[in-house]
Amino acid sequence: MFLDRVKPLDAIIATAEKKSLHRTLGWFQLTLMGIGAVIGTGIFVLTAVGAQKAGPGLMVAFAIAGFVCIVAALCYAEIAAMIPVAGSAYTYSYATMGEFFAWTVGWALIMEYAIAASAVSVGWSGYFTGTILNEFLGIHLPAWLSGGPLAMGGVEGGFINLPAFLIALLVTALLVIGTSESAKVNAVLVAIKVTALTAFVALTLSSSDFDTDKFNPFLPAGLFGGWGTGVGAVGAAATMFFAYVGFDAVSTAAEETKDPQRNVPIGLVGSLLFCTVFYILVAAGAIGTLGGQPIMDAAGFPLEAGSAELARQCAMPEHADALVCSNEALAHVLRVIGFSGIGNVLGIAAFLALPSVILVLIFGQTRIFFVMSRDGLLPELLSTVHPRFRTPHVVTIMTGIAVAVAAAFFPVGQLADISNAGTLYAFLMVAIAVMILRMRDPSRHRHFRVPFVWLVGPLTVIGCVLLFFNLPSAAMLFLPGWGVLGLFVYFLYSRSRSHLGRGIIEVVDDVAGEETMIPIHPPRD
Ligand code: ALA
Repeated sequence: MFLDRVKPLDAIIATAEKKSLHRTLGWFQLTLMGIGAVIGTGIFVLTAVGAQKAGPGLMVAFAIAGFVCIVAALCYAEIAAMIPVAGSAYTYSYATMGEFFAWTVGWALIMEYAIAASAVSVGWSGYFTGTILNEFLGIHLPAWLSGGPLAMGGVEGGFINLPAFLIALLVTALLVIGTSESAKVNAVLVAIKVTALTAFVALTLSSSDFDTDKFNPFLPAGLFGGWGTGVGAVGAAATMFFAYVGFDAVSTAAEETKDPQRNVPIGLVGSLLFCTVFYILVAAGAIGTLGGQPIMDAAGFPLEAGSAELARQCAMPEHADALVCSNEALAHVLRVIGFSGIGNVLGIAAFLALPSVILVLIFGQTRIFFVMSRDGLLPELLSTVHPRFRTPHVVTIMTGIAVAVAAAFFPVGQLADISNAGTLYAFLMVAIAVMILRMRDPSRHRHFRVPFVWLVGPLTVIGCVLLFFNLPSAAMLFLPGWGVLGLFVYFLYSRSRSHLGRGIIEVVDDVAGEETMIPIHPPRD
């Protein structure tokens, strides 16, 4: 019942081979793709949220989250090079653990990508409002238009985050007409992001405001802040994990990589290592200059990020410059330490680069939806392809509206935490899938093999579980809640309509691409 309906690996690989994409990517292009998909709201905005959870321990948080992502990336690389078709973790699970678990992964990924896109939209809105509207145009958006209700996003009396809502819809429109990010545009955006962050690191670490005393106390909320609280260094790691999400989208490029055994790990692990070191330096620069101690409640516990109480505290004059109160953390640091002009340039860099992260995330979400629908697990209507644009416009528009609505009403930290819950589940399942395939099919050719898989696989599982249980309880509970809804859909709708269940193996690889249908004997259940 739960472990049946495993999609035959040979059928999937046959489809991938038919595509026979040219192997053109080297490690450098892969690294650029990785950095392009990864650097975004996590570092530009969530740095403030991470500091509120862990203070200077934010640096440890980046190291922990980076480590979990690097071991997970190795697992992704092995399975992506072996099963190089659309749908990533969902398809890998279908081929190893069967339809039921694949469904749960696909369902979690829908949540991951969509909510992550909302989080990045809210992050973009902070820079748009702060740098473009306030600094350059002198327009002060009223509080009710720049944040959701319940003091969301640090704005008390907020009603809607209009810029976040609009950017999500704009990116959706671009995706409907078939915009995809070209390698050249990606390279330019990577250069912009990396230059902005390098300038930030250079200016802050050499600033006369930099003072090692600001790292004291280093762990004001401890290493573990307590179950369900989401604070402490590991709690912050569970949030800052968001800053690394996106490399999974790149893992599918494994099939287009020259000498994948060498280039895939260099590209994936290299981009994540690069980001980890960079993020730790950025955190050191921000905290060493401006200070990054959390604002505590009366009991000496950090106030919850995104809460009404924190917003009230942030409105007080003594916290006007606090890192933890800023919606555009990095630009804010530079302005306060006397580099207003460069702070504004950094704000423009975030303003320009973050929409491409939203694009990658919404794109990823629609492709998961698309593949699940073509497998018969979701209504076929969702996989309708637009006759002119050749894009899955129905699912793209539905996704875009959901992303925009979530972005309009929720704070960035909470969206990131909820998205992380889904991602951690998907990463865990990928690690398990790699280990299952090693046992079940040890002699199958692998373009890339995880080194020390019996160490790296379990470390990925342990890391994902550790981070999951250090999320705030609301984010943790969202996943099972969403999962229960998914079970209803699966048992009431999908299971009886599944193409595989009806005896057809269908491997869908691309919206406009080829599709292989192999009739098989009806399953026995
Ligand atoms: N890692 C991406 C970001 O931080 C999702 O925006």
